[in-house]
Amino acid sequence: MKTLGKVLLGIVGLVVLAVGVLFALSSRAVGKKYEVTARPVAVPTDSASLARGAHLVEAVVACRDCHGENLGGGALAMGPVGTFVGPNLTSGKGGVAGAEIERLELAIRHGVRPDGTPLLFMPAEAYTYLSDADLGAVIAYLRSQPAVDTTQPATTLGPVGRLIVARDAKAFIAAEVVDHGATPPASVTPERSVAYGQYLANIGGCTSCHQASLKGGLELGPPGTPKTADISATGRVRQWSEEQFREAMRTGVRPDQTTINPFMPWRAYRHMTDDELGAIYDFLKSAS
Ligand code: HEC
Ligand code: HEC
Repeated sequence: MKTLGKVLLGIVGLVVLAVGVLFALSSRAVGKKYEVTARPVAVPTDSASLARGAHLVEAVVACRDCHGENLGGGALAMGPVGTFVGPNLTSGKGGVAGAEIERLELAIRHGVRPDGTPLLFMPAEAYTYLSDADLGAVIAYLRSQPAVDTTQPATTLGPVGRLIVARDAKAFIAAEVVDHGATPPASVTPERSVAYGQYLANIGGCTSCHQASLKGGLELGPPGTPKTADISATGRVRQWSEEQFREAMRTGVRPDQTTINPFMPWRAYRHMTDDELGAIYDFLKSAS
C-alpha cells in the first residue's frame, strides 16, 4: 500500500510538473516581445481607394470571418483550445479603426500589439504581403464603416491551446513566421498576371493554409477538418480548366461534384472577379 501511495504521489507530482512546464512555455511564447518598427501608411480618402478596400475585405482578406459581419468583433469559441476574439474594427466605442496608424499596421502586417507581444490567431502571415496602398485602402474602408459600440473580451487560450502553443508557437502566432524586416511594395497593379495572382494568393491566405509550396497537408481546422489540399503541380486542381477552377472557388463544389470543406473560405473568394481568379489560376499553373 505504501509503495502504491508513493507511486501515485509520484505520478501526481509529474503531472503537476508537466502542467507547470506547459504553462511556463506557453506563457513565454505569448509574452515574447517582437522588435518591430511600424511602417506607417497613408490612408486615402478617394472613392476608388475606398472601393478597393471594400472589395479586398469582402473578397480577398476576409476580415469579417473573425471580426464579425458588422466588423464589431466576434468570438470563435474552440472549447479547450481557447476562445479567439476578433476585436471591434470599427470606429465605435471599443473599436480600433480610429487608433494610430502605427498600431493598425503592427497588428495587420506583423501580428503584434503596440507593446511588441504577439496577437493570437490573427493571420498577419498573409496580410504582411499587403502593399502600402492596399493596406491604406483597407484601413480607409474600416474607418468608413458604421461605428459599432462594443468592447470585446480578450482572447484566451485553454489548456489544449497552451499545449499547442508550447509545442509549436507558429500554430497560433503569426508574428513567429512573419519576416518583420521585409519591405512591402508601395503598390501593386491589379492585372491578369502570375505575379498578381501570387500577390492575391499571399494576402488571401492561400499560401498560409496550403503552404508556400502549395503542397498543403496541414491540419488547421477544428477536429474532423480535412488536411489542406495539394494545389501545386501534383494536385488534382492542375487538371481543372480555368472555368472549372472558378466554379469550384465560387460554389465550393469540385468538377467531380464533391464538396470542398467549408473551412476553405470560398464564401469570400467567390466575390473575386474573373480576372482575379484567373490570375490565381495562372499562378497555380506556374507552380512546380
Ligand atoms: C482568422 C481570424 C481573423 C481574421 C481573418 C482577421 N483577424 Fe484580426 N484579429 C483576430 C484575433 C483573434 C485578434 C485578437 C488577437 C489577440 O488579442 O490575441 C485580432 C486582432 C486584430 C487587430 C488588433 C486590434 C487591437 O487591439 O489593436 C487588428 C487591427 C485586426 N485584427 C485587424 C484585422 C483586419 C484589418 C483583418 C482583415 C484584413 C483581420 N484582422 C482579419 C483574428 C482575425
Ligand atoms: C483557412 C485555410 C485555407 C485557406 C485560406 C485556403 N484554403 Fe484552399 N483548402 C483548404 C482546405 C482545408 C482544403 C481541403 C478541403 C477538403 O478536402 O474538402 C482546401 C481545398 C482547396 C481546393 C480543392 C483542391 C482539391 O484538390 O480538392 C482548392 C482548389 C483550393 N483549396 C484553393 C485555394 C485557393 C486558391 C486559396 C486562396 C484564394 C485557398 N484555397 C485558401 C484550406 C484553405
